[in-house]
Amino acid sequence: MTDDSGATIEDYYREERTFPPSPDFVAGAVLADPGIYPRADADPEAFWAEQARELLTWDRDFDTTLDWQLPFGRWFVGGPLNVSYNCLDRHVEAGLGHRVAIHWEGEPGDPRAITYADLLAEVGGVANALKRLGVDTGDRVCIYLPMIPEAVVAMLACSRIGAAHSVVFGGFSPDSLIDRINDAGATVVVTADGGYRRGVPFLLKPNVDVAVADCPTVTSVVVVDRCGSGPHMTPGRDHWWSDLVAAESAECAPLPLDSEQLLYLLYTSGTTAKPKGIMHTTGGYLTQVAWTHKVVFDLRPETDVYWCAADVGWVTGHSYIVYGPLCNGATTVMYEGTPDTPREDARSGDDPAGWDKDRLWDIIERYGVTQLYTAPTAIRTFMKWGADWPARHDLSSLRVLGTVGEPINPEAWMWYHTHIGGERCPIVDTWWQTETGGHMITPLPGITATKPGSACRALPGIGAELVDDHGKVVEHGGGYLTLTRPWPSMLRGIWGDPERYRDTYWSRFEGRYFPGDGAKVDDDGYMWLLGRVDDVMNVSGHRISTTEVESALVDHPAVAEAAVVGASDDTTGQAIVGYVILRGGNDPTEELRQDIRSHVATKLGAIARPRAVIIVPDLPKTRSGKIMRRLLRDVVEGRELGDTTTLADANVVEAIRDRAGSGSTDED
Ligand code: WTA
Repeated sequence: MTDDSGATIEDYYREERTFPPSPDFVAGAVLADPGIYPRADADPEAFWAEQARELLTWDRDFDTTLDWQLPFGRWFVGGPLNVSYNCLDRHVEAGLGHRVAIHWEGEPGDPRAITYADLLAEVGGVANALKRLGVDTGDRVCIYLPMIPEAVVAMLACSRIGAAHSVVFGGFSPDSLIDRINDAGATVVVTADGGYRRGVPFLLKPNVDVAVADCPTVTSVVVVDRCGSGPHMTPGRDHWWSDLVAAESAECAPLPLDSEQLLYLLYTSGTTAKPKGIMHTTGGYLTQVAWTHKVVFDLRPETDVYWCAADVGWVTGHSYIVYGPLCNGATTVMYEGTPDTPREDARSGDDPAGWDKDRLWDIIERYGVTQLYTAPTAIRTFMKWGADWPARHDLSSLRVLGTVGEPINPEAWMWYHTHIGGERCPIVDTWWQTETGGHMITPLPGITATKPGSACRALPGIGAELVDDHGKVVEHGGGYLTLTRPWPSMLRGIWGDPERYRDTYWSRFEGRYFPGDGAKVDDDGYMWLLGRVDDVMNVSGHRISTTEVESALVDHPAVAEAAVVGASDDTTGQAIVGYVILRGGNDPTEELRQDIRSHVATKLGAIARPRAVIIVPDLPKTRSGKIMRRLLRDVVEGRELGDTTTLADANVVEAIRDRAGSGSTDED
């Protein structure tokens, strides 16, 4: 149904600021010629074939760039290659074995610098150990680890022998682990006794013990000793990582694998249904993540220290901590813990007031980080903590900043630009998904004049268009985002369920991939992501995006973070309810709440004035930082909560329930 204006999703938020790259940046940029867009669009397959040949080492050149039987694509057919060879051996062969691949920092402050030569040797040993445990090409290995280098080693070891990994984020419960192991039919689980987070060890091995009891396919469990917690080890089934590696040679020949060999499964939880095992394969995936990592972050591998602060358990970690950077021979930073950590003298305490909130800025200063890639939710948290924390550190090494995971509100973008980027670093707001494997819509830092809050445009070689409810292309204003042609790192399907793959992504609009996001396009052809279409609110027939109202809320000087939901309303169908977190130093008065409501009306128009603004200490988020609006709708409509298994902190919702009665609900 469309409203009277005819728009699929309406367009209210106006943002006029633009930031072209500086002449200095352009002069040294990896890509500075806008001619790459028309050139790639003229023949996308030839464009991607060129990147594949230039960036990757193949055991034999491929015969066919793309075999496309909608919705199933095969890229670089007939070209065998090995991912771990591309990420390790060839750099060592080129004399770069001494280059640091990973600067790892444990949360307690224990650093490790791992060179490409070190990484290659460790991967060889683990690959041999996996083979000894019976893992063969095509088998699945579940990796359930904290943010330690062994996670990267285990992934690359799988790729070396053609086994597929399925990384399960260390914060997930035994139940989630059971579902994922059984769906994949994994035979080996790689885990650790635990990891450090917020000053204390959190244990993983007990979760594995509970899970594996219900996983008949698992024959072996490999355990990294991270915390010295002395876990229970089941004889015959459980093995210490260090014992296995010590017994093996560090040399393991990389297997030449088909370009369409399954590289990994990564499960994304739909909001209600059973998690989907997203399938990524070898040649196309590596081509797109390597190319995008190089051009979107303007990588200079000889001198840069690149840092993606995501967890390795998310697709961002797979593509932009592990595969893209290592394929490009980059030096990366990997950090185990959270951005706020208890001070040395307060290690045992759990009062976050006494904690340091500058761990990220400290790491950037100490390692001379040149690119930082993080999520809008983290940036809004830093805003809440205040600009004094980054101001204590020298952040002048930074050259490029990136964001991913959610639309970034213009005010959060401006804060990042000002307080982290020193008004000098281009910001790349990268839109993509687990399913797309790599970046799809994003600025190129040496070419694009950015606008705060806009992911700008599709990358060269990528086709993206908005359509309305009838599938008609929208040239201007709001609509559904669609991808118009296959791309190398596209998902190859959902593990074990080709029909679900077709239904979920390819059935809504004929011939197009539908990612489930809304967006709008402005006069200059820039794209602005508007959030999941399931979250769009319908107020008196107007389809208003949660993202735009949240951006208007965050635009208020007292607001650090906001989540908006549509609550059912007798008169208007849905009414807007805004949950807000205040910036430090603001009192939650009735006057302030009214002022925040009026601010939204001024920014977007009276139709978008929230019926209520509820001030809360925290918001319910998934472990990857996405706001769970579904739970907020349950609270505001007084329902029992739906599935909460992916919630990062279960106490948050209770705290919000307590406040929900106190929202300002004047009708004016
Ligand atoms: C959202 C994360 C706006 C979007 C890589 C997408 C974004 C979902 C952006 C995928 C962005 C991600 N601007 N929205 N820059 N990046 N999203 O699978 O709704 O964890 O569909 O992959 O996050 O989330 P996923």
